[in-house]
Amino acid sequence: MKAIRIHRFGSTEEVLEYEDVPAPTPAPGELLVKVEAASLNRADLSLRGGKYRVRPEDLPLIPGREFAGTVAALGNTVRDFRAGERVVAQPGLGGYAEYAVTNTSYARPLPEGVDFVPASAMPTIFLTSWFGLVEEGGMKPGDRVLIQAGSSGVGIAAIQIAKHVGTWVVTTTGSDEKCRRLREVGADEAVNYISKDFKEEVSHLTGGKGVDIVLEMIGGDVYTKSLEILSPGGRLVSIGGAFGPIPDPAPPLSDGRRASRFSITTYLSAHPEAFKQMDLFLELVRQKQFQVVIDRTFPLAEARAAQRYLEGRDHFGKIVLTI
Ligand SMILES: NC(=O)c1ccc[n+]([C@@H]2O[C@H](COP(=O)([O-])OP(=O)(O)OC[C@H]3O[C@@H](n4cnc5c(N)ncnc54)[C@H](OP(=O)(O)O)[C@@H]3O)[C@@H](O)[C@H]2O)c1
Repeated sequence: MKAIRIHRFGSTEEVLEYEDVPAPTPAPGELLVKVEAASLNRADLSLRGGKYRVRPEDLPLIPGREFAGTVAALGNTVRDFRAGERVVAQPGLGGYAEYAVTNTSYARPLPEGVDFVPASAMPTIFLTSWFGLVEEGGMKPGDRVLIQAGSSGVGIAAIQIAKHVGTWVVTTTGSDEKCRRLREVGADEAVNYISKDFKEEVSHLTGGKGVDIVLEMIGGDVYTKSLEILSPGGRLVSIGGAFGPIPDPAPPLSDGRRASRFSITTYLSAHPEAFKQMDLFLELVRQKQFQVVIDRTFPLAEARAAQRYLEGRDHFGKIVLTI
């Protein structure tokens, strides 16, 4: 089969290779999936740079944390799926390929009416947003919520989830056009963090009260200022430092404010049954209550161009490889 493999760590240009490799064989409890679409995530950039959960001895490997396709074969003991069934899966690796395996715990059937491309882009962004905001952050109806990096894959999912729960949402992004599009996605307010100081603007928009929850993923100054805009009792959930460091441990905070870190990979390892939460999001997408915003698709052979595009700042939503 055709696949993208990494033999060593480095930049996109240096290490992503389009190759012929043997198709994997499903072990007991696994599915072999004929992949139709595999989504890119910012973590793919850290992974190929050797900074995300893989060691040199794990190489060569096929990146791609999530994909959608059709079940081609079942490992022994698999009873809940059948050959030919359409599925979405998030095993963590292997998606940049014509065939990939997944443990059944990290796979769900695709309802009619949800296509492969949007489905492939859903698990990481919706599960991170849901469990990060609701479980880790304790988000509840009526909260004032700040979602950083609204135009990111996670940001667009988080805005919709926060509105679904019944909160007031303000988000940040780097252009007026992206602000307009994020209001269309459902944000009550969107702040252009390049032309305005987001902390002053959020303070103004909340009448000086600040926000109850922040979903933060940028790091550096954005993390620090996000803490400063928390109201008493407020919670900041950090899911990454895409563009700056995150203090570890979090600095001491007053008046019941809390800051914590959340990883969907760690969470699902401890609670594999939580992957079934995908059924709710798939149903909401099927009913067109939630949207999956796909910026662009690239053919598998052009994975390098796709990752280069992700490294820039032009995209709005998800980038997907089609196979
Ligand atoms: N912990 C977890 O479980 C988990 C899971 C998934 C993702 N993540 C993390 O979440 C982050 C987003 O991932 P993704 O794949 O959704 O990212 P993405 O689609 O690549 O989007 C990142 C976006 O951040 C925006 N940005 C950059 N600097 C900013 C700033 N100073 N303020 C506000 N926005 C800024 C940029 O858009 P603009 O043009 O608007 O600036 C950029 O497009 C990454 O840090 C990733 O590692 C964590």
